[in-house]
Amino acid sequence: MTKITILNGSVYGKAMEVADTAEEFLQGEGFNVEVKEALLADEIADVDVLLVITSTTGAGEIPATLLPSFLDWQKKNPQMEQKIAGVIALGDSNYEDTYCAAGEQFMEILADMDANLVTEMLRLDASVLTDYDTEVLDWLESFKDKI
Ligand SMILES: Cc1cc2nc3c(=O)[nH]c(=O)nc-3n(C[C@H](O)[C@H](O)[C@H](O)COP(=O)(O)O)c2cc1C
Repeated sequence: MTKITILNGSVYGKAMEVADTAEEFLQGEGFNVEVKEALLADEIADVDVLLVITSTTGAGEIPATLLPSFLDWQKKNPQMEQKIAGVIALGDSNYEDTYCAAGEQFMEILADMDANLVTEMLRLDASVLTDYDTEVLDWLESFKDKI
């Protein structure tokens, strides 16, 4: 059974709710799902499929819980060797220049790590929507078809 690792970064809990929705959906599709708040570089080798679900905080920053993992990847450059990965980014378009910047940083580093980014990043805009279920489930439907 394919394992999907959801790496979750949240400050106020919204990205955590999205991770719960994703976990439930993907389990229902028959995947073995684990949700983590940290994933160090030397743990990447054990990952089959990686789904990063992160909000953006500060001025375009990665949530504090997720930052040590990101910095460790930056330092050690672990290889994903074409393993499938995807990113769901929560943000607020009122932040214009830094809209969903944490998600963008993950898309960039995953590309550097040679991950197979099978879909575009999903952006969830807090200034437009309060309920993300429809967007999240649509995106996941297409993501899981590519696994
Ligand atoms: C202090 C603070 C700073 C934020 N900075 C950004 C930002 O730079 N870019 C962005 O797109 N969203 C920003 N946001 C919006 C959050 O990313 C958005 O509300 C998200 O849904 C929060 O998810 P969370 O509850 O999982 O942390 C910020 C929100 C707060 C409260």
